[in-house]
Amino acid sequence: MTKIIVLTDLHMVPEGGRIIGLDPYTRLQKGIQHINRHHPDADCVIITGDLTHKGDLESYTRLKALLTPLVCPYYLLIGNHDRRENFIEVFPNQGMDENGFIQSAITCQQGVLLLLDTLYAPPYEFPKSYSGLLCEKRMAWLKNQLEQAKVQQRDCFIFMHHPPHATGFVGMDAIALSNAKEFYNLVLQYPQVKHITAGHVHRTISGNHKGISYSVFKSTCHQQPLIFNADDTSLSVDEPAAYGLIMLSPDAVQVHTEDFEISGVNQTVVGNDEINGH
Ligand SMILES: [Fe+2]
Repeated sequence: MTKIIVLTDLHMVPEGGRIIGLDPYTRLQKGIQHINRHHPDADCVIITGDLTHKGDLESYTRLKALLTPLVCPYYLLIGNHDRRENFIEVFPNQGMDENGFIQSAITCQQGVLLLLDTLYAPPYEFPKSYSGLLCEKRMAWLKNQLEQAKVQQRDCFIFMHHPPHATGFVGMDAIALSNAKEFYNLVLQYPQVKHITAGHVHRTISGNHKGISYSVFKSTCHQQPLIFNADDTSLSVDEPAAYGLIMLSPDAVQVHTEDFEISGVNQTVVGNDEINGH
């Protein structure tokens, strides 16, 4: 069994910064404390991008200090709110491929975790760079990893910031992975790809696209309201922050979410004869 905690869309800001009145720092701090208290046995924490709100060095530095107390190893991906060069300056030891993209393959008991870099930059040209891209070099890296996994008969679990599929939110679907068709043309050649995990949408979503199951998790800060037909990609609400928990076993992927700020696990949990069986 492999136990993976997924945090996403941290949107760290410089000291004193707020997003819709929320402090990304204190919300994430509560999440880290919750993970350390309840899941110190996790194999790793994977953070699926939008580590910072504006990609500045101060925010990455604050984030690095905040992550230091995590008791399990952590791996970072970048998203459209990040700046790759600033990220590398503060986190020089995070995984990087031979072309300088933040991509790595992590071997675990149940297979290999493929962490992808979908940042559509540089150049940082907005709104184009809000979308994701796996360029020719990144696709070649992914193909190589999938080939290796095929030879080694290992299952693959993909993590990326931009969903490579529609999620139902019109505005967010317009800034998903821009070369999703090419991505699926590749991964569908490898039946060992068992699950795809993404961020970007700030909402808990699960489903199946072209036969591959997927999960998208809530932000640790601000959330996407359940409004489907809006072109505005900045709609944000103050709903409880959450993290995802993925359990991998030889024949299953279990996906859980924990709203860590309102989690009942912090209460004294007792059995009750009147509610046997829930
Ligand atoms: Fe985000």
